[in-house]
Amino acid sequence: MHRLLSSKWTKVVVFLFSLAPFGALVWRILHNQLGANPVEFLQRATGDWTLRFLVFTLAITPFRKLFRLPELIRFRRMLGLFAFFYVSLHFLTYLGPDQSFSLSAMWKDVAKRPFVTVGFTGLLLLIPLAITSTAGWIRRLGGRRWQLLHRAIYFAAVCGVIHFYWLVKSDIRKPVFYGVLVAILLLWRVGDWLLKRNRQAPVKASAPRVSINTTETG
Ligand code: HEM
Repeated sequence: MHRLLSSKWTKVVVFLFSLAPFGALVWRILHNQLGANPVEFLQRATGDWTLRFLVFTLAITPFRKLFRLPELIRFRRMLGLFAFFYVSLHFLTYLGPDQSFSLSAMWKDVAKRPFVTVGFTGLLLLIPLAITSTAGWIRRLGGRRWQLLHRAIYFAAVCGVIHFYWLVKSDIRKPVFYGVLVAILLLWRVGDWLLKRNRQAPVKASAPRVSINTTETG
C-alpha cells in the first residue's frame, strides 16, 4: 500500500479521476445531454463536485493518521485545487447564464439572496488558499501561519453546506448528508488537537528550558 501511494503513477491516476467529472460534463455538452434545463444541470453538477472535493481534501489528514498512511498527504494539494477548479466552473455557470457576466447584477444578487451570499463567501475563502498552495508560499508564510490560513477550508466547506441547505426547497437529505460529513471531519480535527495539546502539556511542564517544535505540516 505504501509503495502504491508513493508511486508517481498513482498521482496521475488521482489526477485523471479528479478530471473525469469535468470530462463527463464536456461530453454531455457536446452531445446535448444536459436535460431540459442545461444551466441548472451544470450549476448543480459543478456545485456537487465542489463540495465532494472539499470533503475529499478534508478527509486526507484523518485517513492519513487513522490508517497510518503518511503518503496520502501527496494528494491533498491536488484535491484542494480541484475543489477550487470546480467552484470556479460553478461560479462561471452562475455569472454567465444567470447574471449575463454583469458584476453589478451579481453584487445585487449576492446581497439579496442569503444562499448566494454564503456560497460567495465560500468562494472568497478558497481564493487565498488556491493562491498560497505552492511550496514557495509555504516558505514565505512559514509553516505555522500557512497552516492557520489553510484552516479556512473548514469554513469554506461549512459555507458550502449552508449554501446547499438554504437553496433546496424540500428534500434536505443531500445537504444534511454533507453537513454530517463535514461535522465529523471538523470534530475529528478538534479532538486530535485537544489530544495533542494534552500530551504536550506534561512534557512542557517537566522540561521548561527545552524548546519543542510543535509545527505539524499535516
Ligand atoms: C464553496 C463554495 C460553493 C459550494 C461548495 C457550492 C455548492 C453548491 C451545491 C452543492 C449546489 C446544489 C447542487 C445540487 O442541487 O445538487 C449549488 C447550487 C448553486 N450554487 Fe453553489 N456552491 C458554492 C459557491 C457558489 C457561488 C460562489 C455561487 C454564486 C455566486 C453559487 C451559486 C449557486 C447557484 C445559483 C446554484 C443553483 C441553485 C438552484 O438550483 O436553484 N454557488 N452550489
